[in-house]
Amino acid sequence: MDYKNILISFDGDIGFLTINRPKALNSLNIETLQDIQMGMQEVKNNQSCKVLILTGAGDKAFVAGADITEMKGMSSLEALNFSKLGHLTLKMIQDLDRPVIAAVNGYALGGGTEIAVACDFIYASENARFGVPEVTLGIFPGFGGTQRLPRLIGKGKAKELIYTGKMVNAQEAYQMGIVNRVFPQASLMEETKKTAAQIAGNGMVGIRLAKMVIDAGFNMDLSEACSLESYAFSFGFTTEDQKEGMTAFVEKRKPNFKGK
Ligand code: CAA
Repeated sequence: MDYKNILISFDGDIGFLTINRPKALNSLNIETLQDIQMGMQEVKNNQSCKVLILTGAGDKAFVAGADITEMKGMSSLEALNFSKLGHLTLKMIQDLDRPVIAAVNGYALGGGTEIAVACDFIYASENARFGVPEVTLGIFPGFGGTQRLPRLIGKGKAKELIYTGKMVNAQEAYQMGIVNRVFPQASLMEETKKTAAQIAGNGMVGIRLAKMVIDAGFNMDLSEACSLESYAFSFGFTTEDQKEGMTAFVEKRKPNFKGK
């Protein structure tokens, strides 16, 4: 594929989508969002890819938000279309039928925090900075920040971040529950790859079902969500992975999962 602002690569069963506009701190303009959508489609079509790592090029920024120079002259209708483009892009990340880990290697501001939060979980480098500073620009978050952030860290903490526009460092983001783990910048990618490899060694059918049930069940009533879990759990017993996993346990050997 011919991408202008992203890089896609695969290393065995791990995929990498790198947002690559370092001169503009990897900020998200329309072209980049379109590239990410095409990149997600390429990842989706590559059935050998079991886990995707999303990161930013360079050592300064993950994504410094939506592109302010592009947004500056937008009409209300153009802003609506831009927000919808952002939402659609982040939904493709959230709904990928495989885990997506954000490796946040620097500034993740505005759309940068929003795209990270659309991933399954976030690892960050010590120099990472999170925040939703849109109110300092006279607007407010438009790529899901008012929705995914409160669901992740609670309404009060999300409102504090959104109303103040302040930046938090990686340790503060860890304490708030935005980030799962913090690493020195030099080891962020190695550590993220280690976790991706650990996930990729497990039964992918189980992982895909777990992702679907966690995400779909999150906004359901608990009893409906538990019922969804039961049906998805039973579906797992129609798969080769279930037979292989349990047979391997009984035969005291490592399972050889096929993801089907
Ligand atoms: N859009 C466009 N260009 C951006 C950008 C952005 N969001 N963030 C940085 N850049 C550009 C800068 O304009 C600069 O370009 P030039 O070299 O051509 O001048 C280059 O990237 C380097 O940036 P700085 O010189 O500003 O670097 P710094 O180290 O002094 O500061 C920073 C880094 C604190 C991240 C600062 O760049 C900054 O505050 N960026 C904007 C962050 C922001 O407000 N993000 C939210 C955007 S709104 C949004 O995301 C809406 C939404 O919800 C969808």
